[in-house]
Amino acid sequence: MTTPQSAASTDGETLEIPQVYKHHAFACFTQRPPNHPRGSCGAAGAQPLWERMGKALEQQGLSAEVGFTAAGCLGFCKAGPLMVVYPEGIWYRPTTNQDVDEIVESHFKQGKPVERLIMVLTQG
Ligand code: FES
Repeated sequence: MTTPQSAASTDGETLEIPQVYKHHAFACFTQRPPNHPRGSCGAAGAQPLWERMGKALEQQGLSAEVGFTAAGCLGFCKAGPLMVVYPEGIWYRPTTNQDVDEIVESHFKQGKPVERLIMVLTQG
């Protein structure tokens, strides 16, 4: 998909930014110590899940249409492991390998979000 989007640069010049991916996932790789008061996605076991997701996307030939980017803290640390998928703006909290496989198969391959894993986040 290459639908151009318009955006204004800081000097007022308008730039065309192509929509490169069909889906673009940002996964939190932040790791804090296990007893840190804010918690972290890393302490909640994110790393092996994200590694599995990255490998699955590559092995299934989805890398050209699904961007998968390592992100820093997404701001809802105690709810981790967290990832957000655009353009839908869907937040997921996978906790098992099966969850990861289901997101890849259903959302990224078939375009059907995995309702049972969607997180609704609220500022508290
Ligand atoms: S550490 Fe992952 S959202 Fe903050």
